Amino acid sequence: MVKNTEIKLSAIARDLKKSPSEALVIGVGQGPDGPVLLENPLTAKSAEALAGSLKVLGVTGAADQLIRLPGLPETGASVLVLTGLGKVRDGQKISEESLRRAAGSAVRQLAGLSSVTIAFPTAALGDVAAVAEGASFGAYSFTDHRSEKNGLKDPVKTAVIFTELAEDRNLPQTLKRAALIGKAVNATRSLVNQPPSHLYPESFAEAAKELSKGLPVKVTVWDEKRLEKEGFGGIMGVGKGSTRQPRLVKVEYSPAKATAKIALVGKGITFDTGGISIKPALGMGDMKSDMAGAAVVLNTVLALAGLGVPVKATAWLCIAENMPSGAATRPADVLKMFGGKTVEVLNTDAEGRLVMADGIVAASQEYPDAIIDVATLTGAQLIALGNRTAGVMGADSVTAPLKAAADRAGELLWPMPLPEELRPSLDSQVADLANIGERHGGMMTAAVFLQEFVGKGKDGEPIPWAHIDIAGPSFNNGSPYGYTPKQGTGCTVRTLVAYAEDLLAASA
Ligand code: BES
Ligand code: ZN
Ligand code: ZN
Repeated sequence: MVKNTEIKLSAIARDLKKSPSEALVIGVGQGPDGPVLLENPLTAKSAEALAGSLKVLGVTGAADQLIRLPGLPETGASVLVLTGLGKVRDGQKISEESLRRAAGSAVRQLAGLSSVTIAFPTAALGDVAAVAEGASFGAYSFTDHRSEKNGLKDPVKTAVIFTELAEDRNLPQTLKRAALIGKAVNATRSLVNQPPSHLYPESFAEAAKELSKGLPVKVTVWDEKRLEKEGFGGIMGVGKGSTRQPRLVKVEYSPAKATAKIALVGKGITFDTGGISIKPALGMGDMKSDMAGAAVVLNTVLALAGLGVPVKATAWLCIAENMPSGAATRPADVLKMFGGKTVEVLNTDAEGRLVMADGIVAASQEYPDAIIDVATLTGAQLIALGNRTAGVMGADSVTAPLKAAADRAGELLWPMPLPEELRPSLDSQVADLANIGERHGGMMTAAVFLQEFVGKGKDGEPIPWAHIDIAGPSFNNGSPYGYTPKQGTGCTVRTLVAYAEDLLAASA
């Protein structure tokens, strides 16, 4: 189900010709007075000549610009590639994210070549890591269901990073982490890209097991019988209209000497038609991505296990297919959620919060230090924050470190409030709660709904919780840019891995 090829990463500090690649990629920045050739391994003479002809070559240094020139004999590469890193200012460091995007963009656009060497300015290991991550994200394609290549090019197979830090003793670990992050992000993308004919609750649970092979994690799967018996009314209620039965998957990583324990809950709607409250036809196909949250939490836990981060992390994948049928949940039906709260379903298209409620209650019963849920929950997220920025809501003690982690990882995440006054809009005439409320600020209304299901810790206080809405940023239905391909983006995996690593640093 998920068989991505991984780019091979290595680093060299000198002697380009000893590790020749097909392409040598160097960077150009957009300076205040025009394009600036960035630090590179060319001879001073070549660099000077090249810098002098940037303008006439039409090179601007804008992000995603890629210009191919004949290779210079001194580089051992048959093509010299100039790639844009966007705005640069004299004396100002180029951000890690600019490096990540430029490396990703170059590798993505150079698909079809087998090997590239990337020579960007790298002052610290974080810069090398960013280039390596970008290269891994750029070397992605999804061809599972193509019988012909139709001119489709294979992703680049090897990337050599040219950096003075190639011999740093922490370099191997840096590249190893980048490769694992790349693997987790690309696996998330492939699960999202997988069509609903192939990825449905049962096969998603199988894929989770398969991806977990060889890693120190324990996978438990609840099938429909066990879900029914144990009272997971949200997941069962949403899955009722489909011939494909729902699943709950728990993936536990419990390292010895863990200093913190986090629970990650993901929305895994393998296809969201809206159910009886059916969605319009236009764009409905994009709803194959409605399981992105579950793919993110799964791959985050697997990445933490692969990296050996000593934080206990449990992923809860709440998986169902939301279909209309004679057996489907109706508007006005009441569901009893896991833990006993009842919900009147007034709109069957607000199904994510129903499966997530069950998952959040289940996660709470293990008293984690924090619960983070990730879901393609609302169209309102796109209205509020657009299609590249995820929204985060919840306890400041979780949202603030998440925002810091996102900044460090180079992902766009923005905190939004959880206004108390939205709660009465979720009152129901017949049940404890209705599944829809105030339409304006609908992303926050959905979060206020989820908050009702967050349990108390052993201290009697609510477990610190945050909700991340990734409806927009998880799926790119525009053109590719930077390291981001069309369709599944794999967003938020990096933020969550960074969050877990930061927890560790905080407790050290
Ligand atoms: N899966 C959708 C949210 C979504 C929309 C994700 C667009 C990605 C792109 C979710 O289940 C949904 O349909 N939500 C409704 C809730 C409403 C009925 C309260 C929505 O946002 O319209
Ligand atoms: Zn829906
Ligand atoms: Zn949905």
